[in-house]
Amino acid sequence: MTTQQDSHIGKLGDESSIWFNLTPLLKNPENPMGLLLQMAERYGPVIPVNMANQRVVLVTEPEYFKHVLVTKADSYIKYFDGLKPIFGKSMITNDGALWQKIRMPQQPAFHPSVFADYIPYFNTAIKDKMDIWASYAASGKTVEMVEQTWTLAADMICKALFDRDLPFNPHFVFKCVKTYTDVMNHKEIRLKKQSDELFEITGEETAKAVKEWWSVPLAVLGADPREGREQSLLKMIEAAVADPDMPEFDHQQAVDEIKQYLWAGTETTALTLSWALYLTSKHPEAAVRIRREGETVCGDREPTADDYSKLQYTRAVIQETMRLYPPVWSLIRVAAEDDEIAGKQIKAGDRIVLFSYGAHHNPKYWDEPEEFRPERWMDKTKKQVKYSYIPFGAGKRSCPGGAMSQLENTLALSLLLRRFRTEYVGLEPPRINATVTLTPRGGLLFKVRELS
Ligand code: HEM
Repeated sequence: MTTQQDSHIGKLGDESSIWFNLTPLLKNPENPMGLLLQMAERYGPVIPVNMANQRVVLVTEPEYFKHVLVTKADSYIKYFDGLKPIFGKSMITNDGALWQKIRMPQQPAFHPSVFADYIPYFNTAIKDKMDIWASYAASGKTVEMVEQTWTLAADMICKALFDRDLPFNPHFVFKCVKTYTDVMNHKEIRLKKQSDELFEITGEETAKAVKEWWSVPLAVLGADPREGREQSLLKMIEAAVADPDMPEFDHQQAVDEIKQYLWAGTETTALTLSWALYLTSKHPEAAVRIRREGETVCGDREPTADDYSKLQYTRAVIQETMRLYPPVWSLIRVAAEDDEIAGKQIKAGDRIVLFSYGAHHNPKYWDEPEEFRPERWMDKTKKQVKYSYIPFGAGKRSCPGGAMSQLENTLALSLLLRRFRTEYVGLEPPRINATVTLTPRGGLLFKVRELS
């Protein structure tokens, strides 16, 4: 019998899926980005490749990112094959007038003028995480950092945006998220399918993971408010559901929007903080500078909005981390009509892969691009080439939560490193998986120790 979840696995590992089609190009286990970087260097900024049953166009230059994401944004639509179980019909999956109608009522929750209100909630979530880390430090336990930072990011979102304490077990939900994202590692699944091997992850486990995931937004909606705030993202979503002029924004839309925030707004933020902790473990001088900056700016107080603007070096570490390890390493679009980019024909239906990782690592735009150099973000004399750094995308579909995630991660990095020494104890260099996001294969293992 085919279950609904088997069909998700089918879709994700399908030959028509862009993620499956890209796997031959990402096959080097040491460096899955290597081949794409070489292709960009050898064959130029726009490379059409015929793959199985579809044409994939690899785009690697900032001016063409602008063409697709900004200048002709309406001619290139979002690609969401296989991700529907995660995101439902939330804003991130829509296009055109409907997308605009869904995004508009939620946009005010991400305006920088409300960030000061969020900071106490972020600080509380970070403090709670530090209490947990104190016990790990005492026991000497090895921790997997992506799980640690994901649970922190989920707590921050629930407290600040939904006015809720976490109404689910974050570690359990993280394991479900992981099960599903592992299923997205199509190559292994296809190979196992072809050789009739058993899946490491069974359809049943994926079924359980998806079912658990779907229960999470209902838990958020059903939980008691923390403080009964008048203003929150959840209140904005509820108001949109109640608005008779917005019949499209029904109860299911609200459920799916919450799902979207608890995935798109947590996995990416968590990956960034995990990679930042890895980089600062490898560059202890950066960790020392972050500690000193925190001491100078905040002393014994909790950070405020005013302090955030002064935590310049810590923020630069977060920016540099997203340059080296952009959580969303490529943006995918489908051409809605024929077009031409850099003299190359684009046909309606082509899958366009905007290789942001490639631009982030291109020596044309960055001195010593493989080096971890947070100072480059503090040098105001150096002008960045526009669209050469797009961790949050660009144009009207860019990430609404980008600035907020930088705030979350700057505060978290500053506070965590002031109290703890975080020592990376995993494989060096860490292996990476490139599916929808750039993740450390097998996670990032750390020991945390209290500083005296
Ligand atoms: C380091 C953290 C983050 C990164 C790297 C990131 C990255 C991105 C990128 C690249 C896109 C655009 C995808 C595309 O154009 O195809 C995007 C969209 C989106 N992000 Fe983020 N994001 C982060 C944090 C957040 C947070 C904190 C939230 C909210 C709580 C969020 C919510 C969204 C939503 C709702 C969209 C869809 C916007 C639309 O389609 O109009 N993200 N993100």
